[in-house]
Amino acid sequence: MDKVKFGIIGIGNISTFHAKSICELAQAELTAVCDINPEAFLRIDAAVRSKIKCFTDVETFLNEADIDAVIVSVPHYSHPDIAIAAMNAGKHIIVEKPIAVHKREAERLIAEAAKHPELVKSLMFNQRTIPAHKKIKQMIDNGELGTIRRINWIITDWFRSQIYYDSGDWRASWRGEGGGVLLNQCPHQLDLMQWFFGLPCKVRADVKLGKYHDIEVEDEVNAYLEYADGKTGNFIASTGEMPGTNRLEITAERGRLVFEDGKIEFIRNEIPTSEYCRHTDKKFGICDNWKCEVRFEDNGISAHQHRNVIENVVNVILHGGELIAPMEEGIRGLELGNAMLLSGLKHETVELPLDSAEYAACLDTLIATSRYHKKVVAANDSGDFTKSF
Ligand SMILES: NC(=O)c1ccc[n+]([C@@H]2O[C@H](COP(=O)([O-])OP(=O)(O)OC[C@H]3O[C@@H](n4cnc5c(N)ncnc54)[C@H](O)[C@@H]3O)[C@@H](O)[C@H]2O)c1
Repeated sequence: MDKVKFGIIGIGNISTFHAKSICELAQAELTAVCDINPEAFLRIDAAVRSKIKCFTDVETFLNEADIDAVIVSVPHYSHPDIAIAAMNAGKHIIVEKPIAVHKREAERLIAEAAKHPELVKSLMFNQRTIPAHKKIKQMIDNGELGTIRRINWIITDWFRSQIYYDSGDWRASWRGEGGGVLLNQCPHQLDLMQWFFGLPCKVRADVKLGKYHDIEVEDEVNAYLEYADGKTGNFIASTGEMPGTNRLEITAERGRLVFEDGKIEFIRNEIPTSEYCRHTDKKFGICDNWKCEVRFEDNGISAHQHRNVIENVVNVILHGGELIAPMEEGIRGLELGNAMLLSGLKHETVELPLDSAEYAACLDTLIATSRYHKKVVAANDSGDFTKSF
């Protein structure tokens, strides 16, 4: 094989980008797409559409399309079933985030994936390819920051209007989507949280349901995290603030790193904090430090996050090597988000590992007792959709 033939299931907002990305890669080819709504095919560029096959049924698509790999890009609840069907049909998969709506479903998908060691399975964690994120991970992993004491991440630049939520019948209900900002907008940062810092052992969150919108799921979260090694974290997210903030602050022994507006700034302590604290003879002093703007190469890579993940999967299929985002790792950020929501709903601290059966039962109750009536309204697609990445 010298080219990977791709199919995409679910041709909505994000898949038009995936179709374009595949067409830009020399060793990939888009040969077929599938959507239950035939009007969705019109979202694909006409010249590309004329060369591919369009299916309206997943089973027929998996049996008949000339494909080696599938991107699963449907609403979240369907990710596990469709990914499992694709693997059973012998296809490599890239599953859109989140891996599933809740941990128990992710466990089911991962158990099925284990039966297919011959296949490449990736998650679309495109933000892992952003050079600044890679740099922060490298600085943490190589000990540049020293022991981390506290993490603050404010992600309130996910503003969404009411019509955004009203534009799809599956959005913003427990039955259709299974969650709000933690499940739709924040899976990237929840994954980065665990990628950078590991998982906490305790989560206490305050969660507001429909605070800014006429929706039944959460649109504001204030979470406090405790880690086994003593560090603490604050994770704040909202889709109701405009303009919002995306600021990650890491306080560590060697100083303080701030990532905001695409720039990483590190104020480096000459002496590690605990050493200075123990040995200084000054009552009110702080040690000398120096401020650095951390340089990292971008070369336009940030603009091609999704293509980077697809290209990585193509390379692994054709030549072997490491995946940027193995599908199985998707359960970790999902578990963190589930724990925040459960804590907020119960008004209690939740310990990790999360009891996946308890969370599934909690979601079932929310669905069974829901009085939310979804109205669907046609939306104007203008605006910067890339903000959703
Ligand atoms: N990685 C990212 O940056 C990113 C960005 C946006 C969306 N997403 C994810 O992609 C997924 C889709 O989001 P979207 O905004 O494109 O949604 P969307 O509603 O715009 O599109 C979903 C499409 O799937 C189709 N569909 C639904 N059920 C289907 C089925 N059983 N078989 C075939 N087609 C089916 C619908 O008809 C629709 O065309 C979500 O899980 C979302 O979280 C990821």
